Amino acid sequence: MSGQKGKFLAFEGIDGSGKSTQIQALLAHLAAQGVTCRGTREPTDGPVGALIRQILTGRMTADNRVIAGLFAADRLDHLVNGTDGVLQMLESGVTVVTDRYYFSSYAYHSVDVDMDWVIHSNRLSAELLKPDLTIFLDIPVQTALDRIGRNRSRTELFEKEDRLTAVRGKYLEAFARLKDTEAVAIVDADADADTVARRIRDAVSPLFS
Ligand code: TYD
Repeated sequence: MSGQKGKFLAFEGIDGSGKSTQIQALLAHLAAQGVTCRGTREPTDGPVGALIRQILTGRMTADNRVIAGLFAADRLDHLVNGTDGVLQMLESGVTVVTDRYYFSSYAYHSVDVDMDWVIHSNRLSAELLKPDLTIFLDIPVQTALDRIGRNRSRTELFEKEDRLTAVRGKYLEAFARLKDTEAVAIVDADADADTVARRIRDAVSPLFS
């Protein structure tokens, strides 16, 4: 994209992979280095993101293809809206770190709908803005379940295990498919938070040197 002055970093991972902790650590590190930076997330806090959250919490229901379409719309709003859109932040020189971006769609939705369709329906976003680096926090599904499972029933956990295993597989499939056009760092996140934070800083530092 022309006019981009800040860097754009996207964190990805299955639920329970530790994204939010690591994003906070990276933002603090970058700020200490003198980089002006901001965190953001998908689903967004905008109007389409609010609708998606109603679906994720079960207040509303929708077909999986409709949900995938809503995420694609939310992503465009995330990029282009005139209030806090990512494109204008980058143009003003701010480095933006997002908690999830289009690889989340490729991974989560292609479990139920064709991955080609998911990639195609996100093409406008991919053309507008590719991350300078996508950071995938890779942890074993069992570790993720131990972290998120405390208040859940056994059946819920079995369902979750199947789903997260499928999603992790789809992430790896999407990275392999798009390896020629996307910069992706797969970070082993099955370690203590400080060790993972150091691995992330090592992956990101070439962008700021
Ligand atoms: P998130 O808020 O990151 O979950 P958490 O707070 O548990 O880390 O994301 C909410 C859910 O939305 C998550 O299960 C992944 C899913 N999701 C999709 O299915 N498609 C997408 O395109 C995105 C961005 C998220």
